[in-house]
Amino acid sequence: MNFIKAESYEALSCAAAEIIAAQIAEKKNAVLGLATGSSPLGTYACLSKMYAEERADFSEVTSVNLDEYVGLSAENEQSYRYFMNKNLFDHINIRPENTFVPNGCAEELAREAAEYDALIARLGGIDLQLLGIGLDGHIGFNEPAEFFTKETHVTELDASTIEANARFFARREDVPTKAITMGMGAIMGAKKILLIANGKKKREILEKAMYGKITPRVPASILQLHPNVTVIYSEI
Ligand code: GLP
Repeated sequence: MNFIKAESYEALSCAAAEIIAAQIAEKKNAVLGLATGSSPLGTYACLSKMYAEERADFSEVTSVNLDEYVGLSAENEQSYRYFMNKNLFDHINIRPENTFVPNGCAEELAREAAEYDALIARLGGIDLQLLGIGLDGHIGFNEPAEFFTKETHVTELDASTIEANARFFARREDVPTKAITMGMGAIMGAKKILLIANGKKKREILEKAMYGKITPRVPASILQLHPNVTVIYSEI
């Protein structure tokens, strides 16, 4: 595992963007696994800037996002599809038809989940997966559990995750309690993983995940078994 300490959120974001840009420079048609949350916002801003400066070309890139809230449509400002369009896809030259986010409004969510895994398999897996980490150690929306789930699946969000996400919603009742998320199979199948953890509040869980026991109680701890993980963190 490769640890990079950044002096600020900006430095963390640009370091992550440089790694993503290097990936697509090396392989123009790379498959990027993308994440939401506040952590990658700066990374996406840096990537948008790099595109504007002609330092990154996304024309042949495909993206697959980790997760989506159940019940939120693409038009809902709190949906992860909306987030991705607004914060990244609208600012770069990725083809909209090459961007994938699980559909949280699918009539049959189990089928949507199976099709998402089939899509990732058809794409040949993920070249570089960007991850944030939840305060309870979740990655994507793989919440602490008794076992790791391999497949894309529907999950109940933990009380702490609902609490953490409430800041984005006008009313408490609007915060979704379920999500559809990539499982550990697709995440661990990525050729490279890039995890970003910003700020003091992530320090304790990051240490637990990277140096503690490998357990589904701390979902990100499974990353200790992956051969190519870069962690960029800042403590400010
Ligand atoms: C959400 C996302 C995760 C993300 C986490 C941390 O729960 N599903 O993918 O890593 O939040 O969010 P933040 O970066 O805002 O701390």
